Amino acid sequence: MQPTPLACRQVGSGPVVLLVHGFPFHCGQWDAVVPVLARHARVIVPDLRGFGASAFGAGAEGVTHSMDAHADDLAATLEGLGARGAVTLVGFSMGGYVSFSFWRRHRERVRALALCNTRAIADTPEVAAGRATMAARVLLEGATPVVESMLPRLLAPDTLATRPEVVRSVRTLMDIAPPVGIAASLRGMAARADSTPLLARIDVPALVVVGEHDAISPPAEMRGIAAAIPGSRMVTLPRCGHMSTHEAPKELARALEGFVRES
Ligand code: MLT
Repeated sequence: MQPTPLACRQVGSGPVVLLVHGFPFHCGQWDAVVPVLARHARVIVPDLRGFGASAFGAGAEGVTHSMDAHADDLAATLEGLGARGAVTLVGFSMGGYVSFSFWRRHRERVRALALCNTRAIADTPEVAAGRATMAARVLLEGATPVVESMLPRLLAPDTLATRPEVVRSVRTLMDIAPPVGIAASLRGMAARADSTPLLARIDVPALVVVGEHDAISPPAEMRGIAAAIPGSRMVTLPRCGHMSTHEAPKELARALEGFVRES
């Protein structure tokens, strides 16, 4: 797949911070974090291929957007923007899977790495099969099945019960995802490599962020990621599920701001 510069938002000036959204979101996932980081950095926030204004790359219905293809798009985007040096790479969930691919393929472009609510392991065969089934359903029925199956797992039980505005904004973020883009990234996630062997070789400043009640990338698993990356720091966001960008935006922004300033 030919790497393609992505549609993106840019704010601020200085060293580059690249924010990579999760599945099935778009650059707007980072809206609460961008103004805080833009006080210190040139913040580049792309829409991954198949999502947001980068839906152009969605292609045919059977296509797969691998994590490697997403990573190569990010490199082409930086190149296209003339952002030539190494960047602070921040990946949320699927954005974390993409960040591991970026590390493998464009190591020289990473100055520091923040992994938010993500996993290093590959999908089990059962999970991968579930993604294939969901990809086929989404192409027939639109985004709704993916939204309905993910929403209860994205948010902490307390958020679901008491913060309707957060539930609404996360739903809105997903509702507009193009079915072809959703299906292509589902297939890409299902085929992704196990990144666990990579962790011990990460030799840049690293931050690991997890929600106390994250059901998708559980705290115990993320503690394992932090323990395996030499010298990394871990932040646990209280009362937060998977969607740190929406359930704990101020706390997440503060953690990332500290990291960007130090690294
Ligand atoms: C995400 O938030 O990007 C997804 O939950 C990742 C996944 O489905 O593995």
